[in-house]
Amino acid sequence: MPETVAIAADHGGFDLKAVLLHELRALGYDAIDLGTATMDAVDYPDFAAALARAVADGKARQGVLICGTGIGMSIAANRHSGIRAALCHDNTTARLARQHNDANVLVLGGRILGVEAAKDCLRTFLATDFEGGRHARRVAKLS
Ligand code: RB5
Repeated sequence: MPETVAIAADHGGFDLKAVLLHELRALGYDAIDLGTATMDAVDYPDFAAALARAVADGKARQGVLICGTGIGMSIAANRHSGIRAALCHDNTTARLARQHNDANVLVLGGRILGVEAAKDCLRTFLATDFEGGRHARRVAKLS
């Protein structure tokens, strides 16, 4: 059964969301698109909340959030219980977000990152396992 990944964006991340939704499906994931559905201006906390709920409830194993910078989405997502959202900008931050932080939400800046860098982040984030060990103790202290 394919793994489920939820994705959501505000208007600042709308274009990149379309690209990454396509990429997720091409990679064989069952992708849930939680909006936004148009370029009309919306409030990023609403979309972060919807995605956080999907991940925390187990409807999606992981999530991807995109706003203009990624900053608003990461602040908003990390206010939700059970969410470890990591704002990443390259392969290294995406890899370490998984290996060290067990991040369950990848956050990207749609107006900051190029499309290829964003796809790299997505692929790396999804393909990398948590290392556990000393990192598990630290992650446990987050909650
Ligand atoms: C929207 O204009 C912009 O503020 C938003 O996408 C995001 O960058 C906030 O952090």
